[in-house]
Amino acid sequence: MPKTAPRPGPRPDNHVIVMFGATGDLAKRKLLPGAFHLAAAGLLPERYRIIGSAPAKFAMSAEAFREHARQAVEQFGEAKPSGDAWDAFAANLSFAAADTGSTAPLASAVEEAEKEIGGKPRRLFHLAVPPAAFESVVAMIGAMNLAPGSRVIVEKPFGHDLASARDLDAKLHAVFDESQIFRIDHFLGKESVDNILAFRFANGMLEPSWNRQHIRYVQIDVPETLSIEGRADFYDQTGAYRDMVVTHLFQVLGFIAMEPPSSLDAKALRQEKAKVYDGLRPIDVRHVVRGQYEGYRQEPGVPPDSQTETMIAVRAEIDNWRWAGVPFFLRSGKAMGASRQVVTLGFHEPPLRMFHIERHDAPAGYRNELVIDFADPGSITVRFLAKEPGPEMTLGDASMVFRYQDSFTQANSLEGYEHLILLAMLGDQSLFTSSDGIERLWAISEPLLQNPPPVETYAKGSWGPEPATDHLVAPFHWHLPDDGH
Ligand code: BG6
Repeated sequence: MPKTAPRPGPRPDNHVIVMFGATGDLAKRKLLPGAFHLAAAGLLPERYRIIGSAPAKFAMSAEAFREHARQAVEQFGEAKPSGDAWDAFAANLSFAAADTGSTAPLASAVEEAEKEIGGKPRRLFHLAVPPAAFESVVAMIGAMNLAPGSRVIVEKPFGHDLASARDLDAKLHAVFDESQIFRIDHFLGKESVDNILAFRFANGMLEPSWNRQHIRYVQIDVPETLSIEGRADFYDQTGAYRDMVVTHLFQVLGFIAMEPPSSLDAKALRQEKAKVYDGLRPIDVRHVVRGQYEGYRQEPGVPPDSQTETMIAVRAEIDNWRWAGVPFFLRSGKAMGASRQVVTLGFHEPPLRMFHIERHDAPAGYRNELVIDFADPGSITVRFLAKEPGPEMTLGDASMVFRYQDSFTQANSLEGYEHLILLAMLGDQSLFTSSDGIERLWAISEPLLQNPPPVETYAKGSWGPEPATDHLVAPFHWHLPDDGH
């Protein structure tokens, strides 16, 4: 197996990073631990300052913010907060409150940080704030006159339908140019999702069969065992389609379905993804299953008559020469049978059935599948039929597996958020989503948003409402559950 030595990546210019929502959940789980991991890996700029910001009611001293960050890194980080690495990182953290009409503390904190760094550091704003706070934060940056030359990372949800997505874009574009905006979808920062591009376009072997002539169906399946984990306020307004499908799963679909781009730069990748989205048919609600796990309506904060789906399965179709007639089945849900992130491509059967296949264990029948497991560290498996040893020509299931964790030095790997924050500091938009792409995805979602089929209940720990979930993919079968390999 090939092994690589840890390689230092490109280092961003000196930066002042302002983290709005610094006392919130995302900052605690992902952003602060991620920033420390980047620092420990030598991937943050030589000189930088991170200013945590939040409304004045959450204000804290720099000392308290350092302690908040230390606890977050302790609890959620890979790299533990100790030693010189931690001390050096913590020394770069400070806190400044900001509210509409009261931005002076933040403006002076930015000015001071820029002076300490010296020269002309870049500015990066990370908007880790709930949708309701979004507009006011963008307006505050505008009012402080800090937008020119800065970059801004925007968190999903990018609206909740086409009209609101357009509205959000208009507000952003009033202060920032599209080239300054980095809409983050952390699935696109996952090593194994990026590897889809390498797998497809760095190898001559696959591309000739990556089309409707050879592929019968595609599945993008992201079940989660987690329930809503006390996030009723957010989740009941959002549901599985908006939380996962219109965001993460369609981004993965873009990488699976795109034509070979002319290069890996942002323009080329975004253009190819946009072409896939242009070819997507509006969602046909007859090909949608919406599920709600038993007990969801009893979760604290969920209305007793909630119609929000906690699981969704959708058949998407792409009208272009490569994919016409190939169904793309997308499924995601909470409280399901396993936590997995899997793309499956099912290949056509050969034209002649010469072999006797005796298999009592595989209701799915013939399975010649390529399975990309993109939950980091991730794997790629080819499932095929092989002759079983013995005098008779009896076939059995066989597989060939590539596993990241066995194949490369894991020390190099970055978590999705870390990878994307680093790219934003480098000004590389290739793995960020464009406003056109997002608006198109909302546009094809309109039939479903306007006329959602009723939710059907499913047992916690199952794979969605039966039999509807299986009927959706018939005559095919869901790849999951599998044996986990
Ligand atoms: C988030 C969703 O965007 O992605 C969550 O809001 C979901 O509901 C999560 O659990 C899954 O991401 P990850 O990091 O576990 O792959």
